[in-house]
Amino acid sequence: MLSRETVASQLSHTLSEIDIPNLGKKISGKVRDSYVVGAKRVLITSDRLSAFDKILTTIPFKGQLLNAMTAHWFEQTKDIIENHIIDVPHPNIFIARQVEIIPIEVVVRGYLTGSAWRDYQAGKAISGITLPKGLKKSQRFDTPLLTPSTKAEQGEHDMPISEEAILQSDLVDPGLWEQVRDAALKLFAFGTKKAAERGLILVDTKYEFGTSVNERGERFIVLADEIHTQDSSRYWMSNTYQERFEAGEDPHMLDKEFVRRHLMQKFDYMGDGEPPVLSDEFRIDTALRYIEACETITGTPFEGRPGDTASEIREVLANYSF
Ligand SMILES: Nc1ncnc2c1ncn2[C@@H]1O[C@H](COP(=O)(O)OP(=O)(O)OP(=O)(O)O)[C@@H](O)[C@H]1O
Ligand SMILES: [Mg+2]
Repeated sequence: MLSRETVASQLSHTLSEIDIPNLGKKISGKVRDSYVVGAKRVLITSDRLSAFDKILTTIPFKGQLLNAMTAHWFEQTKDIIENHIIDVPHPNIFIARQVEIIPIEVVVRGYLTGSAWRDYQAGKAISGITLPKGLKKSQRFDTPLLTPSTKAEQGEHDMPISEEAILQSDLVDPGLWEQVRDAALKLFAFGTKKAAERGLILVDTKYEFGTSVNERGERFIVLADEIHTQDSSRYWMSNTYQERFEAGEDPHMLDKEFVRRHLMQKFDYMGDGEPPVLSDEFRIDTALRYIEACETITGTPFEGRPGDTASEIREVLANYSF
């Protein structure tokens, strides 16, 4: 594992954002800056840390870690469904196929927690699914639930949507939605199995799918964005889950939840107004947690490439033949 010193020395080189004017108009997401170049999409994963839909700070190596995890899972799941990756010319860059993103966040849940738990407690259905009474927080579902939401515009929160409403909408062709749901459930089952081999529970996750057209003019689905990362998924430790669940305690987590807790407990911050300034100590601790989680999830040591990430990216892209 990278030492605390290496992580600390990268604090001054974190990638907060980048402009590559030669590639055209920049599209900024919360975490990725991207460009469309012909039929390709250049996705640059920054070190930005977001929580409560706000960008808080940067975390050393976070972009490289997210890409390493996604690349790992894409490789392992390519027989389940085709994904958008074409090339990884630098640890922070994905060259992907540009697809038409289906504007639905495809959420799959194996356990009752997070926003689903909050809605359940408030007596609401979860994306149109009415759950039986008497379930407990962090309880496992007999079969994973598909709880989609619509993709919100920048600055807005996503809204849950039922599958029935999806089928009646013009968000996606019903035949393609059938393929999306099938792929999402298979990916989740695969991720659950692999996580279990590493002592982890894949609690819930979010997928993004896009569509592309083949030579015969038919539309088909492609897995896009990221998969099974700590930004898009919850992970818990399996060994302590049952005991803690029975005692009514929250499971030990391996995801970004500790960032949200830090904000709530130390700063009483839940996303309203200016986010607090996070200390370098906290940024280093967060990086070390991301690294440890990445290594546990992928089962391989994270090398990390220290250095002036922004200059490297510029150089790689200036010489890239698209
Ligand atoms: N292959 C692709 N083709 C077209 N768009 C893509 C592709 N892969 C990802 N995207 C889009 O690129 C953007 C990636 O940026 P980022 O992950 O920062 O997104 P975001 O939507 O702001 O955040 P979040 O992931 O939390 O919803 C997203 O809008 C995603 O839908
Ligand atoms: Mg995203």
